[in-house]
Amino acid sequence: MKRRIPIVKALQTIDKDIIICGWVRTVRHLKEIIFIEVNDGSCLTNLQLVLSSSSPLCELVNDITVGTSLQCEGRVKQSEGKEQAIEMHPSSITIFGTSDRESFPLQKKRHSDEYLRTIAHLRPRTNKYGAMLRIRSQAAFAIHSFFHNEGFFYVHTPIITGSDCEGAGEMFRVTTLQPTSPLVEDSAEKRELYFKEDFFCKEAGLTVSGQLEAEALMMGLGKVYTFGPTFRAENSNTARHAAEFWMVEPEFAFGTLEDCMELGERCIQYVVQSVLDTSAEDISLFSQFVHKGLLEELQVLLEPFVRISYREAIEILSKEQQRFQYQVAFGTDLQTEHERFLAEEYYKKPVIVYNYPKDIKAFYMKQNEDGETVAAMDILIPRIGELVGGSQREENREKLEQRMKSLGISTEELWWYLDIRRYGTVPHAGFGLGFERLLMMLTGISNIRDVIAFPRVPGSLDF
Ligand code: 4AD
Ligand code: MG
Repeated sequence: MKRRIPIVKALQTIDKDIIICGWVRTVRHLKEIIFIEVNDGSCLTNLQLVLSSSSPLCELVNDITVGTSLQCEGRVKQSEGKEQAIEMHPSSITIFGTSDRESFPLQKKRHSDEYLRTIAHLRPRTNKYGAMLRIRSQAAFAIHSFFHNEGFFYVHTPIITGSDCEGAGEMFRVTTLQPTSPLVEDSAEKRELYFKEDFFCKEAGLTVSGQLEAEALMMGLGKVYTFGPTFRAENSNTARHAAEFWMVEPEFAFGTLEDCMELGERCIQYVVQSVLDTSAEDISLFSQFVHKGLLEELQVLLEPFVRISYREAIEILSKEQQRFQYQVAFGTDLQTEHERFLAEEYYKKPVIVYNYPKDIKAFYMKQNEDGETVAAMDILIPRIGELVGGSQREENREKLEQRMKSLGISTEELWWYLDIRRYGTVPHAGFGLGFERLLMMLTGISNIRDVIAFPRVPGSLDF
């Protein structure tokens, strides 16, 4: 019995009778022949069906328009055309669903990214988004295999949480209260009373990071990682921020900042190499049509990353102040323009900046002995800016508690986080890697809205 095979396999077959299914990408009528290109999503290349105009199947041809879904049975043969190695000669065609010629929004011409965002439900049927989504899948698989090979356990941390891990006030609120309920913001007591009525009897939100829970799990399993959706209500309408994105967060016991930098570098390089190995065809689409220097850039990522302290970074940047909109000095946070300058122009390769001033970093980072800096690190990538943010964690309960108090972070709320330092605390470290920014790095796509199927950004929730 003949079995349906994916087009990626059909393209490797010759002189065999097979069945394929897919969506029509183009139809060309010549005098005595009709060419129909079909794609089923299994790869970038279409399979070309060749029909002679005398074939009885031509009765169907009026119904076969761009977007039509069909099944085709026939023989694959070597093609006489130059464009493709093989083609299929159908003996039968069954149409599953027709596609209205006049209104189908995807035509053979190139559409702008802005237009395609308005038809996010159809753009997976274009070459570019098909390729992006296949690379996204391969990269996710590579992340899992990297951590699996390194002996990390994949853990799942909650999506609904009561604590803002980064303390940046960017949590989306989760509530069952009616929108008409009065919002009481003016005093802590009134606020508490108000939230008592709510589902969890307290203020709840969508997670901004699984790190704190991952740390608790790490204390039992040694090495863990999360890979899940993350939400931030930061109202920055940039090409690198989404309100919903995916983050990879490893956390490991008995590790230092040095181990953390080393793990981050190897993780990125592993994913680059596996995508180059598994997705050469899709990557070549991006290097031809989206970002010309992509292949060279990906090769550079496989070389050792530069490592500089924050202090050194400030020295380099302060010599170039005139280039920047925001001025730098010890104590200022690095802006995307600074991060990109260091990676893209100064070193022309990834740069790991470590030992940031404690006042610009989160409460949980390990305080260095200088009293000024914390054992933090960011990995900066040319074209992207910050891809990874991580640190060694403060494992000393008293120091952590003091730091929280001085920042006004509730030690009652996070009693359990302090508690894990009470019983068998260990030096440990971890980082967060933004998966969409990783995809921008891998594909050359310049807007985060185009590396996620249904992007969530300020003021837009159309799908
Ligand atoms: O530097 P961030 O805020 O670090 C944390 O959340 C830590 N708790 C991670 C940890 O140590 N476990 O975020 C980590 C990474 C950033 O470097 C960036 O790549 C990505 O997450 N990221 C975003 N990606 C897309 N849209 C946003 N709004 C993002 N915010 C952060
Ligand atoms: Mg960060």
